[in-house]
Amino acid sequence: MQDQLSALLSRAGLELAGLRSRPEFEAAKARWVGPHGEFTGLMKQMGSVPKEQRPILGKLINEAKAQLQAQLDAALGRIAEAEIASKLGPAVDPTLPSPDQGPGTVHPLTQVREEMCRILRKVGFAVADGPEVETEFYCFDALNTPADHPARDAQDTFYLPPSATFANVERRVPGERYLLRTHTSSVQIRTMLGRPPPIRIVSPGRVYRRDTTDATHSANFHQLECLCVDRNVTVRDLKALLDFVFASLLGPDTKTRFRPHYFGYTEPSFEVDLSARHLPKVNKEWIEIGGCGLVDPAVFETVGYDPAVWTGYAFGMGLERLAMLLYGIDDIRHFYQNDLRFLGQFG
Ligand code: DAH
Repeated sequence: MQDQLSALLSRAGLELAGLRSRPEFEAAKARWVGPHGEFTGLMKQMGSVPKEQRPILGKLINEAKAQLQAQLDAALGRIAEAEIASKLGPAVDPTLPSPDQGPGTVHPLTQVREEMCRILRKVGFAVADGPEVETEFYCFDALNTPADHPARDAQDTFYLPPSATFANVERRVPGERYLLRTHTSSVQIRTMLGRPPPIRIVSPGRVYRRDTTDATHSANFHQLECLCVDRNVTVRDLKALLDFVFASLLGPDTKTRFRPHYFGYTEPSFEVDLSARHLPKVNKEWIEIGGCGLVDPAVFETVGYDPAVWTGYAFGMGLERLAMLLYGIDDIRHFYQNDLRFLGQFG
């Protein structure tokens, strides 16, 4: 009987060690210790053993049973561990760099906007904000561009239906229309109506034009507006500020040039050109970057500033164009397509 028991244990040990799954385990368990199992069969033979041998044999059987149970437990433990391991997948080394998408980068337009604001803050300009839905008053009339003025045609763009209302954008003139702002110059009016001079603000933001999209045009793009109101402000102050701003942004070799132009809200008015041959992909001597001038006295009158006391300058420029110059980007559409191969270059 003892030999039978140890032979059975070693066979059971071999078989149980090779089990891979729960169904295999259950079947094996039934074969060994189930009601018709081999071990159960051996136990049943106890009845036919002479009485005096029973205690010693009982002890042997109990020991064998405990060993068999330990083998079963070990086999089940191994199978359960293998199940967890297969759910967890391959082992992870937490000291390796993460295979996940890395941190994002700041959009090139945001970088240029922030850099321009940082430069302008250094010389006393504070960031001001205005809504993208505007009224005709802020966008045109108060900027000395009345409804019948030809300069308005070029910016006669995205009007909202007369029934549209915006609780947070007040209509100052009864019946005037809402539109998507065509330039950030409207923030000049909002700022001046909101507080007394002196004023130094920079206002970056999104603007909308009825433009057909191509490599250099987009129906919405971004501008950066500046307004300075103080006593005795001259064109020289304006030129000095622009020289400082562009030298800070694009490097000391950058030059600026003023060309006479017309804007309703400034007099005199200029278009500003930049020369920055040291930048990548710049192959033109002068590149137009924005408009500027001395604030027209008519604008001061509209906002209730005394034009005999107050003077000022203003300028506005396209942020996309600046970013294109700075980074050598040849198509404005890259900014809006969210292609990570493009955006990732500006980390
Ligand atoms: N608002 C003009 C535009 O969108 C740019 C501009 C010109 C802004 C002259 C100014 C300015 O502040 O004084 O084309």
